[in-house]
Amino acid sequence: MKIEIRLTEGTWIFDDSDPLGPPGGFGEVFRGSGECGPVAVKRLMLTADAAAHRELTLGATLSSRTLTNVVPVLDYGQDAQSDRYFLVMPICDYSLEQHLVGRETLEWSEISNVTADVIDGLMEVGDIVHRDLKPGNILWHDGRWKIADFGIAKFVENSTSLQTLKTSLTPQYAAPEQWLMMRSTSATDVYALACIVQEMIVGDPPFTGDFDAIRDGHLRGQPERMPNASARINGLVRSMLRKAQDGRPSLQRCKDIITSAQTDVEATAKNALAEAGLQIATQQAEDDAKRLEEETRILSIKQQGDEAADELLLILNRMFDTITDSSEAANRPYSTAPSVCLGPAELSFEIPNNPPRVHLEGSGWTVYAFSQIKLRCDIERVSYSDESEYTISASLVYAKRPNDSDFRWFEISFWAMNSSFWKQPVALSPNDRNFDVALSTTMGVFSAAFGPHSIDAEDEQSFHDRWVGLFARGASGKLRPPQQMPPPSTFFSDS
Ligand SMILES: Nc1ncnc2c1ncn2[C@@H]1O[C@H](COP(=O)(O)OP(=O)(O)OP(=O)(O)O)[C@@H](O)[C@H]1O
Ligand SMILES: [Mg+2]
Repeated sequence: MKIEIRLTEGTWIFDDSDPLGPPGGFGEVFRGSGECGPVAVKRLMLTADAAAHRELTLGATLSSRTLTNVVPVLDYGQDAQSDRYFLVMPICDYSLEQHLVGRETLEWSEISNVTADVIDGLMEVGDIVHRDLKPGNILWHDGRWKIADFGIAKFVENSTSLQTLKTSLTPQYAAPEQWLMMRSTSATDVYALACIVQEMIVGDPPFTGDFDAIRDGHLRGQPERMPNASARINGLVRSMLRKAQDGRPSLQRCKDIITSAQTDVEATAKNALAEAGLQIATQQAEDDAKRLEEETRILSIKQQGDEAADELLLILNRMFDTITDSSEAANRPYSTAPSVCLGPAELSFEIPNNPPRVHLEGSGWTVYAFSQIKLRCDIERVSYSDESEYTISASLVYAKRPNDSDFRWFEISFWAMNSSFWKQPVALSPNDRNFDVALSTTMGVFSAAFGPHSIDAEDEQSFHDRWVGLFARGASGKLRPPQQMPPPSTFFSDS
């Protein structure tokens, strides 16, 4: 069907039954025409709602510049009639994707031409990151290779969610930072370009297979050495594919190497140097991958720890709420830690933390979050040497024990024979070595006074009853230090 659209510069007609290729991630491109003759009309897959009146600024930026290696934008914007966003460009002869079909690899001279043209295109619009560089967006027009679809990914990223952007990208060319939904920079385009260069040299981009395999490759994998390329080119591609954005070479450096490589191949001395450079680049790439993996791991631990912390806050708030609900006299004064007071007793807890060291080697516990609960009360002195204050506390840890399959919240308190407070079960932080030793089979200064007992899900009620009971005894002046350690179980459950 012939469709007429009105944009800023004029009226265009396109035929929605005549696509110039299969639809892409951000829209479809159709054969069309205008006063100047035949054109390509790209209809963005984006409702006006999602675009939320954002300006398609790339149109303005690009149409005001003279560009030799970027497909010019003839017109752009929103069509009032259909409410859809459009981009009008000259019709190009074919894409690099189409050019590669049926060709195993390309000659080096052609590879270096394509690459140099693309680098020129990227340098011309220096301040805009393309974000979706791939063979389908490299088009042959007017006797040179030009980059199409500049800035569309950015426009879509601003208008919809990052998640949507991620699913619109082509996995083979997406850089690690895009998989992690981190900020893209011009180094993101350098990475994609390396994938394209490798595809032109060996026939496939560095990471192939199903979606998960490709993702894994970009995040953790090492590209294979290209047997039909010189050490210098292998080294260059390897460094362009570094996982860390700031480790990738500048466009100018890429261009220098690409354009001088053809004359270089014979120079053996340089080749030996390049060989050494390749080895270094390989090592750097491996280091990068390890660092990235570690960062991803820490991020996910932190996320799980934070979610667990929210869950614990709910459990503790339910406990504190029942106390304030059941006694008018109880109050929750503002202090450094969340607390509830009634008469001579104060119950408080620490805001949950993420431990710096997650795996405890001695005990085999894995800890993602921790906190502590503390009861402090005034007690009657029976003899002159008695303390007038009594405190017990317990560690709350979100952990997985060696044979557990899941993480849970546990309560555990400790005691030490030689401690002057030895009749007071105390909390230890999992950052404290004593925590690990007490839970291991090794003899240490501290041992468990109570627990470990899980306190979440079906065990929340007994955790709740235990501490509300201790608090009630403290508030009514009836709490007495236990006469032995570890304390008898009645110490925690007596009412
Ligand atoms: N100006 C143009 N002239 C000729 N063909 C074009 C032009 N622009 C795009 N095409 C072709 O139209 C098809 C669809 O392009 P489109 O940009 O929608 O998808 P893509 O480039 O594969 O993916 P993406 O949405 O990520 O850019 C592609 O096969 C492309 O080669
Ligand atoms: Mg495209």
